[in-house]
Amino acid sequence: MPLLHEVSRSKTLALLGRLLAVGVDFKLDDQVTRRRLAPSEMRDLLVTDLPDESTGVDEVVRELVDTVLPACNNEASPRFLGFGHTGADLAALAGGLLALFAQQNLINQSFAAPSATFTEIAVIRWLRQLIGYANRPVSDVTTVWDVGGVATYGGTGSNTTAMMLARENIAPGTLHQGVGDVARMHIVVPSGIGHYSVKSALQWLGCGDRIIEVPTRGYRFDLRALEQTLRERRDEIMAVVAYAGDSRTHTVENLCAVHDVTRAADPRIWLHADACWGLMCAFLPELAPRLAGIEAYDSVTVDPHKVMDIPYAMSALLVREPAVLRSISSYSDLIMQEDFAFGQVTPFIGTKEWSSAKLWTMMRAHGRRGLADTMRHRLVVTRTFAGMVDDHPRLLRLNDPDMTAVAFLYLPVDHDPGHPDVDRINAISKRIHARILEEGRWHFHQFSLPDDTGRIRRGATLHPLRFMGNNQRITESHMRDALAYVMGLGRASEQG
Ligand SMILES: Cc1ncc(COP(=O)(O)O)c(C=O)c1O
Repeated sequence: MPLLHEVSRSKTLALLGRLLAVGVDFKLDDQVTRRRLAPSEMRDLLVTDLPDESTGVDEVVRELVDTVLPACNNEASPRFLGFGHTGADLAALAGGLLALFAQQNLINQSFAAPSATFTEIAVIRWLRQLIGYANRPVSDVTTVWDVGGVATYGGTGSNTTAMMLARENIAPGTLHQGVGDVARMHIVVPSGIGHYSVKSALQWLGCGDRIIEVPTRGYRFDLRALEQTLRERRDEIMAVVAYAGDSRTHTVENLCAVHDVTRAADPRIWLHADACWGLMCAFLPELAPRLAGIEAYDSVTVDPHKVMDIPYAMSALLVREPAVLRSISSYSDLIMQEDFAFGQVTPFIGTKEWSSAKLWTMMRAHGRRGLADTMRHRLVVTRTFAGMVDDHPRLLRLNDPDMTAVAFLYLPVDHDPGHPDVDRINAISKRIHARILEEGRWHFHQFSLPDDTGRIRRGATLHPLRFMGNNQRITESHMRDALAYVMGLGRASEQG
């Protein structure tokens, strides 16, 4: 297999140029997927032995393009309505491509990422500013501990780093001495809507299963119940996690109230806001008030790969007090003991890809105004979709969207709102979703959801479909066609 220097420049450019065209056409395709195979068929096709002989690069690439790519899901398709992770921003793609070639390693600055380290710092400062954390003057940023955040590979990594900070906060020195009194290491989350990453973080950090779920109302903490839990479990709780956009309905927590209740109960508790989705609000004057109070939280997770059309994967953990990152720092003489080596402040990550290049180019290219326009357009799309669901007698919307998620159910023809048959409604919804996945023509997401607004029966566990209005290729006719398709599947499922 040749290295770049062994191939003529023109041959390299021809191959990469062809591939770029394939990649662009893939993203511009209307189809969610071109080829559906059962997992076992896909396994048998692709899980093969490594051949002894070399295969020419042209041949391998052809195989990838002809066999693997057609079966890939295209999240940028305007028929992909369940998420909005399009990865289709041109500037972000350009930044990502260059980063791929530049091969910078942000573990160290001096010899591994002399300039990339500082574009990453710039990006972290932009994100901090967006959520209302104060930034030091640039001239005062003299080490990585002055930056106030780290880029990670996802919301899971960012949340886990936050929980590590919470653990060090309640039991300083645990990093060195090992986990001691786990009875103090519980984390409070809203019941039924939390993301698994927080629970997993506790397990990974040696604290065990110590999640305390507090009842919710309208997909937000029931504040009385939160207050009561914090009182009853005093001295057991190390963190409260609030969702600025939960994974399912993207409802933004009442951040100020949760802050006030928590701080009043016990100021030692670490307050973490998961704003993986909520970052979207920060760009829009009309949505920014929903994030009010987030700047008083000890840490905040944001996930640009979810809400900013940048290719996977890029998340960031931001901290109110930049110096707290010292409490979870790594020391090794393999990481340069230099001021700007990010390897010192990024738990779990050694070699560190220049993932922020995508965001740096994207944010610079759009500017604040461009970003606001994008987010505003998404709200219009979401409102349109919610309106279509509301206008349909056989569809029921379950949440009042704060951002771009709409959870909805197909209702069978004999549905009686006074006596809803929850099992049947769920069974039909699951059948609809199974068909959607099987056929691969459209995509809606599905998950379990407590009926927190009481639109079917308060407290029931529902399995709705979920639309997300982030994909800017979605038009009214896509939404209408998708709902007609769901209705067709629903009618067929009722009979099945
Ligand atoms: C609210 C929330 N937090 C965290 C995560 C985890 O993010 P990632 O998959 O990027 O690790 C998700 C993913 O959907 C999420 O919705």
